[in-house]
Amino acid sequence: MEDSCEITPNTGLRGITIADTRICDVDGANGRLIYRGYLIQDLAKASFEEVVHLLLYEKLPSASELLAFKERLAAERSIPEAVTAALKTRPHDALPMDILQCAVPMLAQHDPDVRDQSPEAVERMALRLIARFATVMAAWNRIRNGEKPLAPLPELDHAANFLYMLTGKEPEADVGRFMDTALVLHAEHSFNASTFAAREVASTRAHIYAAVTAAVGSLSGDLHGGANVRVMEMLMKIADPAKAAGYVTQEFDAGRKIFGLGHAVYDTDDPRAYIVASMSKVLEERIGKTKWYEISAELDKIGKEEFKKRKGRDIYVNVDFYSGSLYYSLGIPVDLFTPVFAISRIAGWCAHVVEEQFAGAAPKPTLYRPESEYIGDYCGPDVCEYTPIDER
Ligand SMILES: CC(C)(COP(=O)(O)OP(=O)(O)OC[C@H]1O[C@@H](n2cnc3c(N)ncnc32)[C@H](O)[C@@H]1OP(=O)(O)O)[C@@H](O)C(=O)NCCC(=O)NCCS
Repeated sequence: MEDSCEITPNTGLRGITIADTRICDVDGANGRLIYRGYLIQDLAKASFEEVVHLLLYEKLPSASELLAFKERLAAERSIPEAVTAALKTRPHDALPMDILQCAVPMLAQHDPDVRDQSPEAVERMALRLIARFATVMAAWNRIRNGEKPLAPLPELDHAANFLYMLTGKEPEADVGRFMDTALVLHAEHSFNASTFAAREVASTRAHIYAAVTAAVGSLSGDLHGGANVRVMEMLMKIADPAKAAGYVTQEFDAGRKIFGLGHAVYDTDDPRAYIVASMSKVLEERIGKTKWYEISAELDKIGKEEFKKRKGRDIYVNVDFYSGSLYYSLGIPVDLFTPVFAISRIAGWCAHVVEEQFAGAAPKPTLYRPESEYIGDYCGPDVCEYTPIDER
């Protein structure tokens, strides 16, 4: 490589606009998150089903539309028996995100619409995916614990059904509502890594299940959806609010990150973070154990102060920071935190796949094909001379 060769900055596409979308705006400078025109703070008052309707059909449902929509979702919530049987063959210590990722093509294999690329068929497949993610993960948790998977209850909404199928107990109304709000808050976030992955695959005209499989893989990483697990592991390691300061110093000294802090887009606190924080606080107070919330609040304060002291700039909390303690108090096993994120984000992914495939915000669908700068330096400026294997 010549000394004068300029290295392409590895920006991870930060600040580069690659498509128009009508679905979501993350206004990082002002800390605003908007789904189809509505602020997340307002949508936090709505149910997951209302928000899914908004994301897919571009409008909040009327009461009768909501009822009909809930019935459609309820009708799709059960997973094919063959998929449950296949889940039973998986090793019980498999990573839950791997289970979810392999369940998606299995669901495709049982979907009668999978060869149909019409908007009507894609909409039906989107509804099945949104309805079934929660069922798959609840079934998996019971299977790995040697328990029988539970069928969804038609009278429960999506969030309460998930908790019921997971634990075998119908949640009290306010607990179900906390889960519901958590699903609303995680449902969509514009062109994050997993949504970008889904849209890129959708741009090839692959079906919606293929696009969603890619998105699940992307979400599994620690810097994306995996962060909520790492947050809870961190809280458990600290175990005592008085030890939060020592932990922050130790991690920063070692050059490690505090999970749940920092965001690729927000220059302020993530608008969802303190909605989650207040639910976490209330829920922990209700069950009489406020330890995880207290450690989180200490880490939040001290982590920000220490970052400012060391780097001379601010860092802010993201949605994963207080999600750890909230999910834990909801009785969700720690290694299911990232799948729970997926149970919600499937709504956003599906809306984006539809927009990508049917050019909902673009003049026409286009295959993604970015450029790269070739910096391979093997045989000088020219290509290498190929030698047959017995002459090498
Ligand atoms: C989310 C994340 C990848 C955003 O990335 P980004 O804005 O591109 O920031 P970078 O990873 O490039 O980091 C920029 C600087 O801030 C520091 N930093 C970023 N997040 C940090 C954190 N959580 N703890 C400590 N330092 C952090 C980096 O070490 C880096 O420092 P340097 O400039 O001295 O090298 C990053 O903040 C992170 O890894 N956070 C923890 C994981 C997490 O919570 N992910 C969930 C996101 S919703």
